[in-house]
Amino acid sequence: MTEVILETRALTRRFGALAAVNNVTLSFKKGEMHAVIGPNGAGKSTLINLLSGDLHADSGNITYQGSDIDGLPPDRIARKGIGRSYQKTNIMGGFTCFKNCWLGAYAARASRMGFFKPASAYQDLNTRAEQALELCGMLRRRDRTASSLSHGEQHRLEIAMMLAAGPQLLLLDEPLAGMGPDETLHMIDLLKKLSLEHTIVLIEHDMDAVFQLADTISVMVDGEVLETGTPEKIKNSTAVRRAYLGNQDEPA
Ligand SMILES: Nc1ncnc2c1ncn2[C@@H]1O[C@H](COP(=O)(O)OP(=O)(O)O)[C@@H](O)[C@H]1O
Ligand SMILES: [Mg+2]
Repeated sequence: MTEVILETRALTRRFGALAAVNNVTLSFKKGEMHAVIGPNGAGKSTLINLLSGDLHADSGNITYQGSDIDGLPPDRIARKGIGRSYQKTNIMGGFTCFKNCWLGAYAARASRMGFFKPASAYQDLNTRAEQALELCGMLRRRDRTASSLSHGEQHRLEIAMMLAAGPQLLLLDEPLAGMGPDETLHMIDLLKKLSLEHTIVLIEHDMDAVFQLADTISVMVDGEVLETGTPEKIKNSTAVRRAYLGNQDEPA
């Protein structure tokens, strides 16, 4: 059986009286693309924020590679190998694409390099930044300022910044949001490429993309996980169709 890399147990996060994430127990297997889908307000972004350390749980726990990570700050979680992208991009508009990625690599390595940094350490950061740009098809934009990029390119740059840090697991919150048809195809190709070498937790509204990309799909409704399974199982689940896909007769 495939090894579980990330796990939540009875994870709960409330905002006042609302349980945005309610008693969520999920296993993410190493190397899989695991999509979390559900209607607006289902708690998907809150779940990602708990996994990345941007929010803390009220109860329950999160285990990554066998150790508890709940309660750790985002930078510690990132350094353990969990990268994330945000629904709103996180890039520094005035900096070049290269510099944005370089900073992504630097943030991940800084604490390990100590005060006196050998020149080779900087060379390593340059290489990581350029490799990340290349993987995302952004090397030709290396010296462009980030603010001058198209919306789709900014999303790809953000993914490159995340990759420059060398993560093993990626948390992606709606990477296709707001993209045109061409940009969507580009991003789907990139996600396929990334899935060859990373475990991915994908939140996405584009159901065609989800059913095309995901190995496993979990459906969240009102903070709870309704069902988890293969795309085939989810497509044919009566409970899922009734609660979410909005079609009780035909597979979506
Ligand atoms: N910071 C917050 N303060 C109060 N309520 C929030 C906050 N973040 C999210 N919520 C609420 O929690 C629920 C889940 O939100 P969210 O996780 O963003 O859902 P999704 O990403 O599935 O659309 C929603 O009802 C939302 O309004
Ligand atoms: Mg969301």
